[in-house]
This record gives sequence, structure tokens and C-alpha cells, in this order.
Amino acid sequence: MIVTVTANTTIDYTVFVPQFEMNRTMRAVNQVYSMGGKPTDASWILGENGITSLALGFAAGNTGERVKAMLHARGVQTDFIEVGGETRINVVIISENDGGHATITTSTLDINERHINELRGKLLAALPEASCVVIGGTLPKMMQPAFYPEFIALARARNVPVIFDADEPNLSAGLEARPTYIKPNRDELSRLTGQPVNTIDDAYRAGRALYERYGTCPIITLGDDGGLAVLPDRAYRIPPLPVEVVSPAGAGDAVLAGLALALERGQPIEDGLRFGFAAATAVCLMPGTADCRRADVERFLPLVELLPYPG
Ligand SMILES: Nc1ncnc2c1ncn2[C@@H]1O[C@H](COP(=O)(O)OP(=O)(O)OP(=O)(O)O)[C@@H](O)[C@H]1O
Ligand SMILES: [Mg+2]
Repeated sequence: MIVTVTANTTIDYTVFVPQFEMNRTMRAVNQVYSMGGKPTDASWILGENGITSLALGFAAGNTGERVKAMLHARGVQTDFIEVGGETRINVVIISENDGGHATITTSTLDINERHINELRGKLLAALPEASCVVIGGTLPKMMQPAFYPEFIALARARNVPVIFDADEPNLSAGLEARPTYIKPNRDELSRLTGQPVNTIDDAYRAGRALYERYGTCPIITLGDDGGLAVLPDRAYRIPPLPVEVVSPAGAGDAVLAGLALALERGQPIEDGLRFGFAAATAVCLMPGTADCRRADVERFLPLVELLPYPG
């Protein structure tokens, strides 16, 4: 079973405006609610594609109930811990004319030490049957980055592969526990290394250095420049597929889903990369964060190329 762990569960509210401008009222041309936290996004994408997973984490209030209902509708099993406050709603703004997008995040869950202990217990109970753990995202206020190395180490100590996706300061904290894969985007990789990531070669050098230091394989996503998978003895450039992008939010989380699928099925990671980047492209076609259609994923699957890098 694929296990996903989301501390900061989220619903994303995506609003499309013709052109985003400060100091004026804008009329939305479209709006949609969808999933938001990275690991729950991966569960949701897997569910759309007929693959069950177990989603763990913290949830609260009406929005928390909504997260569960959306996951159940796609066959995801959930076992969230009820905490204080309310699962947050983040606002994603898509500015259609210039193709820009921005996200406003909030922090509305109240977590205490007892909740974290309960989550530790649920993860430990799930690990014997787990094919992998997908963990990451921001943390609710009151939670420290040290949550990540501790929870990643619980899985790694039991030989369960971990797919970890977070931004600083959580990314460098979690890396200390040597997750199996990380999935930084361009900005996250740049903040982690303190170096600009302009070219594919910048990404390759940064990714290879991370592998040498932590034994973790970075699967780097570069938006409309595609992806770069740095594996122990090989690397692949994954060109983007030419599509009319509606919203790229959550596309990176489809790559987490792909890696998890390969681990669940005992397939070569190459198969997971193909599925992940096909699903990422399918997410780009939908207005909602991490939403995709199975038919699109299947259509894109044979088109994804893994080109050995450096060539
Ligand atoms: N404009 C685009 N055109 C084609 N493919 C895209 C585009 N944007 C994203 N993708 C595909 O989706 C993958 C993941 O996108 P991206 O790098 O934006 O992830 P991300 O920043 O982690 O996203 P998120 O955190 O919102 O999930 C890319 O590697 C690429 O394959
Ligand atoms: Mg991402």
C-alpha cells in the first residue's frame, strides 16, 4: 500500500482572472475547488488513475471533512487525526493574459504534541504493509522542520522508501534522514543549494551533488522546461509535452504519484517517471490544483521521453 502523510491538509480555491492587477476589483471568469497539500494531491491523482492509497495526516473542521470526501470519492482510504482549528483553504490566482499564477497560503490548523504522537503511531502501524511513503508540504504553525527527519527516519529504518517534497527550511531538514527521492522544482532547488538554477546543467550539477551527499535521488521539475531525474548511476532529461496549459498547480505532485506507483508495483523507476510526467502534463490541462483525467494520462503516457543526460 502507498502511504501518504500530509501535516498541512489543504483545499485549493483557484480563481481565474483575465489579468491580475493591484488596486482594482477583478471579475473572475472561472473558479474551482480542488485538493491542495502535496501528499494528498498524490493520493488524489493516484485515485483518479485507479490506484488506492492510504492518506494520513491532520485535518479539522468542515474543510477537513471536504478533503476526506474528495479523497473517498476517488477510492483513497483516509485515517486523519482530528486536530484544532480548520483545514486551510489556499487561494491560487491564474492571470490568463500573461499566463502568470500566484498562490496565497494560510495557516489555520492547531497542532499539539499529542497530535504528533498520534500521527507517529498511525505511521508506525501502516509501515509494515507500506510499499513507500509520500511525505511533504508546508507545516502548520507550532510544528518544527525537525518533524520531517524524524518521520522520514521512521520509514527508512524499516526499509520503506520515502518520497519527500518540501521547500526550505523543511527540505534541508528532511534530507538529513536520507529520503529515497526528493522532488524539488527550480526555485526549491535554488533555495536549497543557495545557487541559481538557470540551465538544465545547473540542475544536473546540483542534483548530482545532492545525491553524492545524501544518497537521495533528486527528481527535479523545471516547469515548461520539463524535468531532470538524477538516479544513482544515470540521469534523464524529460522534455515537456507541448500542451495548452490551463493551470500547472499540482503538476509536480503528479510526479510524486508516479514514483510511488513504480515502488508499489515493483517496477523500474523509469516506469514511474513516465507515469509521473504524463500525469503532470494531464494536471496542466485542468483548472483545479492536482486535478487530472485518467484518459489524458493514458494519452500522454506513450509520449513521455526519457533522454539519457548528459547525452
Ligand atoms: N507550462 C508547461 N508546459 C508543459 N509541461 C509543464 C508545464 N508546466 C509544468 N509542466 C510539467 O509538469 C511538471 C511539473 O511541473 P512544475 O515544475 O511546475 O512542478 P512544481 O513547481 O512542483 O508544481 P506544484 O508544486 O504546483 O505541484 C514539469 O516537469 C513538466 O513536465
Ligand atoms: Mg511542487
